[in-house]
Amino acid sequence: MPEIVAVLAEIADQMARESERGRVASYIPQLARVDPKKFGIAVVTAEGAVHVAGDAEEPFSIQSISKVFTLTLALGRVGDTLWRRVGREPSGNAFNSIAQLERENGVPRNPFINAGAIVVTDVVLSGHPPKEALGDIVQFMRFLAGNEEIVVDKAVAQSETATGYRNVALANYMKAFGNIENPPEMTLGVYFHQCAIAMSCRDLAHAGRFLAEDGHHPATRRRVVSRERARRINALMLMCGHYDGSGDFAFKVGIPGKSGVGGGILGIVPGEASICVWSPGLNATGNSHLGSLALERLTKAMGWSVFGA
Ligand code: DON
Repeated sequence: MPEIVAVLAEIADQMARESERGRVASYIPQLARVDPKKFGIAVVTAEGAVHVAGDAEEPFSIQSISKVFTLTLALGRVGDTLWRRVGREPSGNAFNSIAQLERENGVPRNPFINAGAIVVTDVVLSGHPPKEALGDIVQFMRFLAGNEEIVVDKAVAQSETATGYRNVALANYMKAFGNIENPPEMTLGVYFHQCAIAMSCRDLAHAGRFLAEDGHHPATRRRVVSRERARRINALMLMCGHYDGSGDFAFKVGIPGKSGVGGGILGIVPGEASICVWSPGLNATGNSHLGSLALERLTKAMGWSVFGA
């Protein structure tokens, strides 16, 4: 196996020289201000070695990567009854699509498209004031990442609260089907804030470790989820983590992954490593353009595709 330090340095160098970098998300105005030249990558191996390259220490907006962690919390609260309210199939539609919801009676295809993630957040919110629910989510991220400094970027949260009309439509539409328990504006408030959590590649690579380690949290030797649940969350990430780009990501990269419109991607190599890459420019399916390319090169060089070296 090649030396990972050299592989990461080479990838970061190649990415710095790429001229086609995708397009930074602009539908959340605050995200449009991020420098498209940024590129960072962090890998935490099963042995606990941490390797970073580029802008790996700089916090960015985790956006939809948060959905992996709220799903973990929601499954902890309600277990498999969650699957009465949200499906487990790839959507084949954009992350913010509304059309499918009508045909499927307000039950979103999976927990990673926006509609599904809003239901998941609604589960985490039920029985708590919104501040407390958000506090639980932020606290969970701090625990997993081992970083007490992690906070919500208020400007990003406000920016999406002011412009997130599609999500308002999705939440209200699902409420009409009885699939949202709380007032939609409260569920959305928590959802927008969880998406606005700022973390670095290093933080997120640490936070993903329990999924690479059969549900264990190696830094504290605590179990976060059962082995079965870790396996299932990884399966959902592989099939649905990149929306209607999930097939292409599996084809080229070959690992469970979850993207966010901030340009981050969390990648899990079961038994081997937890990876986070960040480059703000997105491709046509709303996933990081250079992030996907970097992960493709990394998994190829290291023989890390779950489908074989
Ligand atoms: O709800 C939204 O539209 C954003 N807060 C998150 C979407 C997202 O990250 C999609 N991922 N690529």
